[in-house]
Amino acid sequence: MASRKRPVNIGLIGAGRIGSFHAETVARRLVDANLVAIADPAPGAAARLAAQLDVDHAYTDVAQLLAQPELDAVIIATPARFHTNLVVQAAEAGKAVFCEKPMALTLEEADRAIAAARAAEVPLQVGFNRRWDQAFAEGHAAVEAGKIGAPQLLRSLTRDPGPFGGDPERIPLGTIFYETLIHDFDTLLWLNAGTRAVEVYAAADALVRPDAKEKGFLDTAVVTIRFDNGSIAVAEANFSALYGYDIRGEVFGPGGMVTMGDVRRSSMTLFDGIGVSQDTWRRDTDHFVAGYTAQLASFVNAVREREAVAGPGGEDARRALAIALACIESVAKKAPVALK
Ligand SMILES: NC(=O)c1ccc[n+]([C@@H]2O[C@H](COP(=O)([O-])OP(=O)(O)OC[C@H]3O[C@@H](n4cnc5c(N)ncnc54)[C@H](O)[C@@H]3O)[C@@H](O)[C@H]2O)c1
Repeated sequence: MASRKRPVNIGLIGAGRIGSFHAETVARRLVDANLVAIADPAPGAAARLAAQLDVDHAYTDVAQLLAQPELDAVIIATPARFHTNLVVQAAEAGKAVFCEKPMALTLEEADRAIAAARAAEVPLQVGFNRRWDQAFAEGHAAVEAGKIGAPQLLRSLTRDPGPFGGDPERIPLGTIFYETLIHDFDTLLWLNAGTRAVEVYAAADALVRPDAKEKGFLDTAVVTIRFDNGSIAVAEANFSALYGYDIRGEVFGPGGMVTMGDVRRSSMTLFDGIGVSQDTWRRDTDHFVAGYTAQLASFVNAVREREAVAGPGGEDARRALAIALACIESVAKKAPVALK
C-alpha cells in the first residue's frame, strides 16, 4: 500500500471510452497519482493509450498488470460483465479498487466482490460519479442539513444525448436498468439516506427503437420506488434526448424542495435574429469532468491516507443493483416487486 509520502501508483484495466478518460484524469488532472500501467485485451488498445499519456507499461493480459509490485490501486473500466471477477482478482493481488458501475450483475456477484475486498482489506469504491457533481453534492448537503425536512418525494432522471446511434443488438439486455438507471438508483438512495427501498414498479419500452423491441431491447423506462420511511421516488431514463445530456434530481419535503442539474452548458445566452438560445451538454465526459475528477481524487486520497473510501462502496453498489434487478423482474411481470 501507498505511504503518505509518495503519489499513488494506479493501473487502468480497460482502455475504452471511459477508461481512457479516467486515465487522462489520473495522468493530467490529479497531482497525487501516477498512471503506471494499462491493460486491455484488444490488440493495441493499451499500447496506444499508454503512448498518448507517457505510461511505461501496456499489457493485453490483466494478470501482468496486477503482478506489478509498485502498483497501489486499479481502475476497472471494462464492460460490466467482467467487473466482479476483476474486482476479486485485483483485491486478491492486494490492490485498492475503483470499479466502474455496475460492480456486479447479480447479488451473488456483488457479495463476492464485497467479500474479496473485505478479506484483502483493500479499499473498494464504485463509479457513481453523480455524487461529486457540484449541484448534486450541494443538494445532498441541503437535505442532510434538514433544510427541507424528511424527504417525501424524490426524482432522478437520465436522458442520454440523442440522436441514439447505438446498435441495439450489441447492447446487453437490461442495460437501461443495470447501467443507466443504476446511477439514479444510487442517487436516490444517497439523497434519501438511511432508508431502504421496499417496493419497485417499472414500466419500460422501446420508444426510440421500436423495431428492436421484439428482441427485448428497452430504451425508455419509468420506475416508482417506495422506501421504508414512506417516501416515494420516481426515476426515469431515455436513450435519445435530442436536446442534450439531461441529468436532473429533485427532493421534496415538508420544508421545501431542492432541485439539481441543468442541461444548459453555461450561463452564456445567445440573442440573435432567431431568438434567445443556450447550448447544452452533449457528453458525460464534458458535463461531469469536475465530478469525475473529484471522484478519483477522493479515491486516491483514501488510498494515500489509508482511510476508508469517502465515496460509494460495494454495499452501495449492491443496494442500487437490487433495485435494478427488481425493475427487470417488474417489467417481466408487469407488476410491483417487493425487495427483501
Ligand atoms: N460512470 C459513468 O458515468 C460511466 C460512463 C461511461 C461508462 N461507464 C461504465 O464503464 C464501463 C466501460 O464502459 P465504456 O463505455 O468505456 O466501454 P468500452 O466498450 O468503450 O470500453 C471497454 C474496454 O474494456 C476492454 N476490455 C474488455 N474486456 C476486458 C478485460 N477482461 N480486461 C481488460 N479490458 C477489457 C475492451 O477491449 C474495451 O477497450 C461500463 O461498465 C460502463 O457502464 C460509466
